[in-house]
Amino acid sequence: MALAAQPSVADGVARALAALDLDAVRKTYLAQNEFVYFERFFPESVWGPMVEEVERARARVNRNYIPRHKKGGSVSAYALREQAPAILTLYRSPEFLAFVRAVTGQPRADLCPDTDPHACALYYYTEPGDHIGFHFDTSYYKGTRYTVLVGLVERSSSRLVCQVHKDDPARRREVVLATEPGTLVLFNGDKLWHKITPLGEGEERVSLTLEYVTDPSMTRAKRFVSNMKDAIAYFGFRSVFTRR
Ligand SMILES: [Fe+2]
Repeated sequence: MALAAQPSVADGVARALAALDLDAVRKTYLAQNEFVYFERFFPESVWGPMVEEVERARARVNRNYIPRHKKGGSVSAYALREQAPAILTLYRSPEFLAFVRAVTGQPRADLCPDTDPHACALYYYTEPGDHIGFHFDTSYYKGTRYTVLVGLVERSSSRLVCQVHKDDPARRREVVLATEPGTLVLFNGDKLWHKITPLGEGEERVSLTLEYVTDPSMTRAKRFVSNMKDAIAYFGFRSVFTRR
């Protein structure tokens, strides 16, 4: 059963977006090799209900550890669809999708299929040393995949480190962000080299990511690689292989 949209969240999203100069945002996005961010962009009426959902979803967190690459917890789209109406309201917001399409210049960008556990997911950094090393959000789809990151809980010294223009030494630069509640980041997953630095003692950081894709078809070989990666590195075998 689909969760009902939350009107106050939908309204807060629409108001925040209406205040933007989309042409200017698109220019910045292109100048930064398909990456743009807005610190403390959403009001508390948007992120507050999502932080409550972060608390409620704690029982569903799946922890993973891949030596020298990543350590942390995650809650998949399957779990969020059952119990996180505020998060789903943002993900499914027509105004937000229009914003993603306008900024990326991709009118075909759309929500990821229901079978994708990353479509919208929470990432919990709760134990000392939780982190993820430098990576791209590689698209296994035939289409281009865009990542939206929204900061929800930020009581940490962890930082999102973004290497813009990684492959162009003349223009390469690093952007270091504390993802405070409401902070919004949008990028092309195959272009932005990024990491989360290790969590300190007694700290906590939780972020939400939303994925949008221009063509959701996938070859069988890539489907297999994608499923194995999700099972091992993120959500666990039971979650990935029994929900499809
Ligand atoms: Fe990532």
